[in-house]
Amino acid sequence: MFGRSWTFMGHTSELAREGDVLTATIAGYPLLVVRTANGLKAFHNVCRHRAGPLFDEERGNCGSALTCKYHGWVYTLDGRLRNARDFGAAAGFDPRDYSLFELKVETWRGFVFVNVERQAPALASHLRPLDARMGARDVGALVHTDRRTHDIACNWKLYVENYLEGYHIPLVHPQLNAEVDAAKYTVMVEGSACFHSAPPKVSDGVYDGLWAFVLPGLGINVYEHGLMMERMVPLGLSGTRLIYDFYLAPEAAADPIKRQQVISTSAIVTAEDKWICERVQANIDAGVYQAGVLSPKHEAGVAWFQAFVAGAL
Ligand code: FES
Ligand SMILES: [Fe+2]
Repeated sequence: MFGRSWTFMGHTSELAREGDVLTATIAGYPLLVVRTANGLKAFHNVCRHRAGPLFDEERGNCGSALTCKYHGWVYTLDGRLRNARDFGAAAGFDPRDYSLFELKVETWRGFVFVNVERQAPALASHLRPLDARMGARDVGALVHTDRRTHDIACNWKLYVENYLEGYHIPLVHPQLNAEVDAAKYTVMVEGSACFHSAPPKVSDGVYDGLWAFVLPGLGINVYEHGLMMERMVPLGLSGTRLIYDFYLAPEAAADPIKRQQVISTSAIVTAEDKWICERVQANIDAGVYQAGVLSPKHEAGVAWFQAFVAGAL
């Protein structure tokens, strides 16, 4: 599911200078994207010599070349092997045969996505439903302010199912319930995306009343002053890592109180979801529960996601 889909990597403002790199691991694939003189390139973060790592941090700058951390092979930013350090004579060895494994890379409103599958359909068609919903929001002007990660002891699909319904908000999220009108909560499914909307009830809150989810595991939480890209990454069978990247409008980004308000609001909601998802996982592990029933009024998104998983399997 993840290896065949578009993976969110970051925003072009995080890849502004030549040699800027972002990395991520998805479905076991270590990936990197780098700014070259001629735009963005993306590769498996795997050296062609003996599979060493080319870049070992989440973000940074690699200078004018990618140098393997194992034996020091040097690759140009567009992935060609420039120097096999002190390799010695080897009959038949042609550096031109050892370019990095390239990935598809495309951007949507400044956000950078990669795809392991070279034949994948264009990002624009994958994200088309988002375009209409995001409307004129100028997300291209946002700046990355913070990253937070949360580990949850549940299968990633349980977390996604929980993300895809607002039915639990009145019981699990008292503060969120006070901020948005849960009675007017709507869920809409369109192509590879699912949208939730609920009008904000307060004028000085964090939320803008729109949440989007893109298959297989990306949440886009829209705020009054920006948004948070939420990656839901499977960690094996019974663990999920949430990687939150916060992007705010420049004025909000420069205001430490606003910035903190957004982060702490999201931390509260995440702690509540972590609690319920881990309790549900434990209950499922107990083996009594086999299958339940979904509410057409509230759980259309869950049904849609389950159909996607069943189709993929
Ligand atoms: S594995 Fe990269 S130089 Fe040896
Ligand atoms: Fe929740």
